[in-house]
Amino acid sequence: MSEINWAALQQAAKQAAAQAYAPYSKFPVGVAILADSGKIYTGCNVENASYGGTVCAERNAIGAAVVAGERNFTALLVYTPQAMLTPPCGICRQVIAEFFTPDAPIASCNHLQQQQDWTLGELLPAAFTPTYLANSTKVGA
Ligand code: THU
Repeated sequence: MSEINWAALQQAAKQAAAQAYAPYSKFPVGVAILADSGKIYTGCNVENASYGGTVCAERNAIGAAVVAGERNFTALLVYTPQAMLTPPCGICRQVIAEFFTPDAPIASCNHLQQQQDWTLGELLPAAFTPTYLANSTKVGA
């Protein structure tokens, strides 16, 4: 696998965060994901007056990539203008696990040029993945 261009992902994630619609939390998030094709896709959080309707930046980035025909990804980078580096939330970890391998780097960066890296396997060990459905015994009608 070729080297990951983290500088390009940082720039893309930061630009995405600038588009965040976060009037309620005032917590803008931008995400950049690198597809195996080499293309970068981005997403920002989009909040809703009915708070539960909010969609995180990670899931919006994955949705944008999927509609472009992508299915496999190499890396994901979150950008938040926060001193505490922000990892993906639990729901997003599950959605990431649908398309990223356990060894994929999932990272977070901020406005202070700091970055912290994890693997997906560290963030979501023993994930429930499509494999369980593919190998399942169909029970009932
Ligand atoms: N948020 C994300 O976009 N990604 C995360 O992984 C953490 C949370 C958003 C959702 C909401 O708009 C705001 O951050 C505060 O929770």
